Amino acid sequence: MKRINLGWVAAPLTAALGFLALSSAQTASPSAAPSLASSSTASPALKGDIARGKVIADRDCSFCHGERGDIDDGETPRLAAQIAGFMTAQLEAYRSGARKNEHMTPVAKNMTDANIADVSAFYSALAPAEPYPVQDAALNAAGRKLHLEGRLSSTTQADSVQACAVCHAVQGEGNAALKMPRLSAQTPKYLETRLKEYRQTSSYSSASANAMKIAAQKLTDADIVALSSYLSTLK
Ligand code: HEC
Ligand code: HEC
Repeated sequence: MKRINLGWVAAPLTAALGFLALSSAQTASPSAAPSLASSSTASPALKGDIARGKVIADRDCSFCHGERGDIDDGETPRLAAQIAGFMTAQLEAYRSGARKNEHMTPVAKNMTDANIADVSAFYSALAPAEPYPVQDAALNAAGRKLHLEGRLSSTTQADSVQACAVCHAVQGEGNAALKMPRLSAQTPKYLETRLKEYRQTSSYSSASANAMKIAAQKLTDADIVALSSYLSTLK
């Protein structure tokens, strides 16, 4: 079969879309119906309450993530304007133990579905964080090229890198309908850590994480530094 040039973009994208069908099937299943009174309004996708989310965030999250989700300690992820569906999925992954972290596991362990929906609604409604300044123009240009164009290998398509913008959007703002996380103005060190984790196929597995693992497979260390630096400067 003759493959068109876009095959290497389309295949993982199909995988990404496949996981969406899967996750909506899961939320629609009866097991998603919680017995908690606070979740009595539960529909297949819980609609979070921003005001209740703010109470939870001020009490349980802002100490580490910053009052406006725009912490700048060089390590902790920023949550300002993060895609709600992505946040919900990550909090559920910490809660179930699928994704492990010494800080987040204890936080998520006691959260109800309603708490998770509320706090995700709160952070997603915040204004995006201030981008990091451009420090190295050449590095930035390399990151920009990979983000927008990817890299089509001259030898085999299997070595190619997909354009990140296909899934994460041109300004790195993410995609709410597809639950693709926002990357713009994210702390560069966190982006670097995450990309290295995805590149190791042993990191936590889920349908969406697996789509990202395919995307990270062929990134070199230099690619990761350039991308992390560039994405942190996007508004
Ligand atoms: C003790 C500090 C601490 C507290 C408190 C905390 N977090 Fe976190 N959070 C972190 C760190 C550190 C990470 C990165 C963990 C990792 O690499 O898996 C993180 C990661 C996350 C992520 C994943 C973000 C991403 O882009 O991958 C979400 C979502 C999140 N936290 C939400 C929350 C919420 C909501 C609360 C409050 C209910 C909270 N956190 C409380 C430190 C904290
Ligand atoms: C086929 C779609 C797709 C492509 C292409 C893609 N990603 Fe992703 N990316 C995802 C999905 C889905 C997630 C969420 C994975 C999860 O649930 O852990 C993600 C997560 C991430 C995260 C973690 C964000 C966070 O806050 O924890 C980073 C960083 C990231 N991608 C960077 C990139 C970069 C850089 C590229 C280009 C080299 C890229 N992605 C290409 C789909 C994609």
